[in-house]
Parts: sequence; structure tokens; C-alpha cells
Amino acid sequence: MKVLFISLGCDKNLVDTEVMISLCQQAGYEITNEESQADIAVINSCSFIHDAKEESITTILETAQLKQTAVLKALIVTGCLAQRYQDEIQTEIPEVDAVLGATGYEEIVEVIEDVVKKQHKNRYPDLKLTPKRVVDRVVTTGTFMAYLKIAEGCNKHCTYCIIPKLRGPYRSIPMEKLLESARNLAEQGYKELVLVAQETTLYGMDLYGEHRLPMLLKELAKIPGIAWIRLLYCYPEEITDELIEVMANEPKVCHYIDMPIQHADDEILRRMGRRTSQEDLREVIGKLRTAVPDITIRTTLITGFPGETKEQHETMMEFVDEMEFDKLGVFTYSKEEDTPAFSFPNQVAEDVKNEWRDEIMLLQQEISFEKNQEYIGKNLEVFIEGYLYEEHVYVGRSFRDAPGVDGYVFVTSPEELISGDMVKVRITEVNEYDLIGEIV
Ligand code: F3S
Repeated sequence: MKVLFISLGCDKNLVDTEVMISLCQQAGYEITNEESQADIAVINSCSFIHDAKEESITTILETAQLKQTAVLKALIVTGCLAQRYQDEIQTEIPEVDAVLGATGYEEIVEVIEDVVKKQHKNRYPDLKLTPKRVVDRVVTTGTFMAYLKIAEGCNKHCTYCIIPKLRGPYRSIPMEKLLESARNLAEQGYKELVLVAQETTLYGMDLYGEHRLPMLLKELAKIPGIAWIRLLYCYPEEITDELIEVMANEPKVCHYIDMPIQHADDEILRRMGRRTSQEDLREVIGKLRTAVPDITIRTTLITGFPGETKEQHETMMEFVDEMEFDKLGVFTYSKEEDTPAFSFPNQVAEDVKNEWRDEIMLLQQEISFEKNQEYIGKNLEVFIEGYLYEEHVYVGRSFRDAPGVDGYVFVTSPEELISGDMVKVRITEVNEYDLIGEIV
């Protein structure tokens, strides 16, 4: 039987999909990317914000149609939408044969076996379970970069966020399992590890009673073959001096940090349930830049949180202008049921949220362009990801670019390069988000 996987949402969800693919292969199922050939389709869904839910539902509906036209016999929905709307999915979309909760991906083979036997059982494993099958995965992100999910769940309970309800409390994956997984990946030729979790900086607190991310980074850096280790989803209040020191001194740890701050106005931060003030943010950014002068700092912001005023938006603009983040993304606030902010008064109109988002992005474009210009004439190490045939250029990423969210380095080279080559590139031109250069 052939199984098709469709992974939606974030990179954490993608890692779960990769584990499910491996489990299915081990159980003797063939994996296919061709919808027309699939006997079983598994949609690993997302339910973070309105647009993500809409994408998940559209994908489920489109895939459900294949039951009439193609060979598809069973449709299974897993992941965060499955967790959140357990009953609704099957009542509203009867083509769905089984639903598997967000932490249940390790049971995918049992669910497939149920539906093959026409026993349609939904499964919702305890949200407090720690993932066990982290080592065997079929990496789907190319030949040299792999995500390493270091924890599941979240304890922070920001007032706008549904994720703790969907993914349970924070559970670190034991360090020995992560190291085994990383060694495995290195042996398969993976050179860049991108550490992910709902929050990476809290790693170890639940298991070891202390921040263990610095130690994990040092241990990962000892693995031969791993060239870059990149950190995503760092919470500002959990960034310790020890972590900054490891970033500064461990050559394999990229001088890059993704640190979502969400806002810069103290009152909004307080009502968001964030644990940092503007002063705290300024302090941690200052420390990072002092210890690691060439660090690339990426952040994300939310516009139009309930009750946000024009003045508070201006505060955020001024902060962005002053801090000059290297990379920045903006979400408009999404009103999510079952979160405290859902019932906060003074919800902001959609057009205002969009206008504020666009204003920030316009400002960021200027900042990003100026930052990129500083690289003209400099050499950067670049991992080659692919080739654009029409433009005759290679596409790659430097330490400044996380996969999927940041820009690229476009490289001309007289020699043939392949995906996963690390090359030195002299930057000759830039635009707002990307760099252009030639191989040295
Ligand atoms: Fe979406 Fe779940 Fe990730 S809600 S963003 S797939 S943790």
C-alpha cells in the first residue's frame, strides 16, 4: 500500500511527519508523493492562526475529493487541527476515516492498520507524553540540512497562543537521544542542524532542573561532520550568559538567533503574558551584540493585539528602528478561541492590523537593505542548495539565513557545484532580502 504524507504548519510538525514516514516505511508501507497513486493519505495539519486553519481545511477537502476520482481509500488527519477540532472534523468531513491527536504521531501505523481493517478509531494520546521515536526519521529537507526537535509543548501560555492547549506542557527530549539522532544524521551526510521546539532556550529545565541548551550545543558541536548548528525559537528571558558565551566561542554554532519578541510596548507585552519588558529586550539584544558582534538577530512581531493603540504601535516602530533587527517577520493578531486574548476588549480592525504590519515591513526593508550593504566586498561561507537554470546561478544560504524564513545568497561559479557544497563567496551586490556574489 502506498501512503502519501502532506505536512502543513511549522518545522516542528514537519519533524513529526518525518518520524511518521519512517514508521510507515519500517512497517512495510511505500511512501509516495503522487496523490493519484496513494491508497492512504495522511495530512499532518496546523491550527495556529486563522490562515493556517484555512489552509489545513482546504487541503483536507481537496484530498477528500481524491476518494472519488483516484485510488485513495483512506484519509487520516493528524497534528494540531486534529487535536483542536477532534469531533468537528469527522462530523463535517465524513471522508476523513480517522483523526490522530497532535502527540499521537508515533501511533500512525496502528491508525493506518485500523482504517485498512475498516475500524475507524480516533486516537488522542495524553498531551503530556514525551516523544520516544526521535532517532528514526526520513528527512525531507534535502541532503544537508535537518531539523532537530529538542522538546515538545510549551509552558509559557502567552495570552494569544493556542499551542500549549494543542501540544501540552514543555517536555525536553533526553539529551542522549538527541545526540544519537544527531550522530545518525551526521552519518547520513547532514551538515547543518537547525534546533527547533516551541521554545529551545528552556531546554532541560523540566528534565534536569537547569538550562541545558549550552551543554547540548557543545556536545552537538563535537559530532564530526556537523558544520553548522542554528538556533530557532529562543525566548528572550531564557537567554543566559552561558548560552551567549557558547554562541560566541563555539565555531560550529552559527552567529544567528531567532528570538521572537512579539511587541515592544510594556503594556502590550504584559497583556500578551510575555515575561519581558522593553528594557529587558534592550538588555538581551545589547548582550548578544556585544559578545557576538556579527550576530544576525531575527525576530517576529504581532500587530493589532486587542487594545493596541496607535501610540503603542509607534512605540514598536521606534523600537524596530532603534534595534535594527537583521531579519524580521510580522503576523497580524489572529483571534483564537480558547485563548485569554479572545475575549479581551477593543479588538483591532483587520485593515488596521494589516496597515500596521505593512508599515513595519516597509521600515524593515530599509533596515535590511542597509544591513545587507555592509556585506558588499566581504566573503561569506555559503551552503549551496540548488541551481536556477534560467538565471544560471546557484542558490545558497549563509549563516545569516535560516531555511524557509530568511533570504538567499545567489552565487555565480565557473565550477559545477552540488547541493550541500560549502563555498566561499564574495558579495558583489545586494537587495532588501538577498545577497548576490561570486565564488572565491
Ligand atoms: Fe501549527 Fe501546530 Fe506548528 S499549530 S505552527 S503545526 S505547533
